[in-house]
Order: sequence, then structure tokens, then C-alpha cells
Amino acid sequence: MMKVQAPFFVPIITDDCEFFKDIKKDLIEIIMDIHNSDPFSVQGNFPNSKNLKYNLTESNSDFLKIDEEPVIKLRNWILKKLIEAYSKIQIKGKDIVITESWFHVTKKEGFHNLHTHPETPLGGIFYIEDGGSQEGNQWLNPIFGYSHRISDIWCKPFFESKFEPGKLILFPGWILHSARPHTGNKNRILIAFNSTVLFHDDQVVHLSRIKEKK
Ligand SMILES: [Fe+2]
Repeated sequence: MMKVQAPFFVPIITDDCEFFKDIKKDLIEIIMDIHNSDPFSVQGNFPNSKNLKYNLTESNSDFLKIDEEPVIKLRNWILKKLIEAYSKIQIKGKDIVITESWFHVTKKEGFHNLHTHPETPLGGIFYIEDGGSQEGNQWLNPIFGYSHRISDIWCKPFFESKFEPGKLILFPGWILHSARPHTGNKNRILIAFNSTVLFHDDQVVHLSRIKEKK
């Protein structure tokens, strides 16, 4: 019997947070408080990577560890979704942890150019405020079948997402991706994070890891 296989699979997993509208306002307040406390020390301060990040403010990498109601609710939801996602892509381990998490507040024309996330089977983006534009993210197809115009029907050059507040996108950290230049007039706000599975207690991971409490 004829069989079609897809051996070079790139999973991109999405979900919508059902309670997002209940936490949106408070979440933005927490983010903007941190942002406003020292916007100029972080805003666009990437002297060695001017073409990588432009006109955006990035928090430190412990954002989801903040113990305030909307953040706790969101991180528990994300952890639940990670457990489900790792099971769907059949990566099994002892534990699933968020290793780093941060926010981006992007101003007009700000962008985050092509990059990958090392040691991250699943990275994630959670959209919070679109700032007046639906421009989301772009992932480059690592399988260059798209260079063949007839195969292009199922092998596109890239995958794009719309910026929809409350949407979660999980993707392999090794795939090149970017945040398109922001065309809206207000701040574009999102949270991003890295996750991994742990196979044993001695596995070296970032110290800021977060896992679900049993
Ligand atoms: Fe990224």
C-alpha cells in the first residue's frame, strides 16, 4: 500500500488562553511598571547586536517567576500547555521546566531579527498587546523544498503568525525566527520563554527554571 511519510517534521503548536481577558490589564500593568522603572537602561541597549534587536525593551530572564496573581495564573497555564505539547511531539522526560522567560515591549518600527534559542526543544511566545498592528512572527522553513516551485504547494518558505492577544505559540528553539518590524503606533507587548525536559537530576539547566508544583 502506498504510504506518505513526513520524516522532517517541524511542529508549531498554538493555543488560546481562555481566561486572558481577565488578566490582560493587570499583566500589562506589571510589565509596564518594570519597563518604566528603568526604560532607558534596557530600551534598545544592545550595542553588539544593533541589527538583531531594535527599538524594543527586554526584561531580565525571570519574568514568569514573579509571584503576582496574573503571572502565577499564566505560568501555570503555560506549564500545563507545555506538558500537553511535549506529549504530542513524543518527547518524554522526568520533568518539564521553563528555563528562562522575559517580556518584549516593542516600539514603532522595532524588531527582533532572525535568531534561534539554544538548548530549547520548545520555545514559546505569548501575545499580550498588539499595539495597533497584527504583524506577528515569522519562522524560516529549514527544509528548502520551497526553492522548487511545484513542491511549494506543501513546502512554503516560511510560516507566519498573526499577532492575536491571548495566543500561545510553541516551536522548536532551533528554527530561525524573527519578530517583524512593528508598524503600530502603540507598544507591542509579548512574553517569550524557553523550556526543556529533564531526563535526570544531574542535568545541567539554567538556575532560573520553573516547574509545575506537584
Ligand atoms: Fe525568539
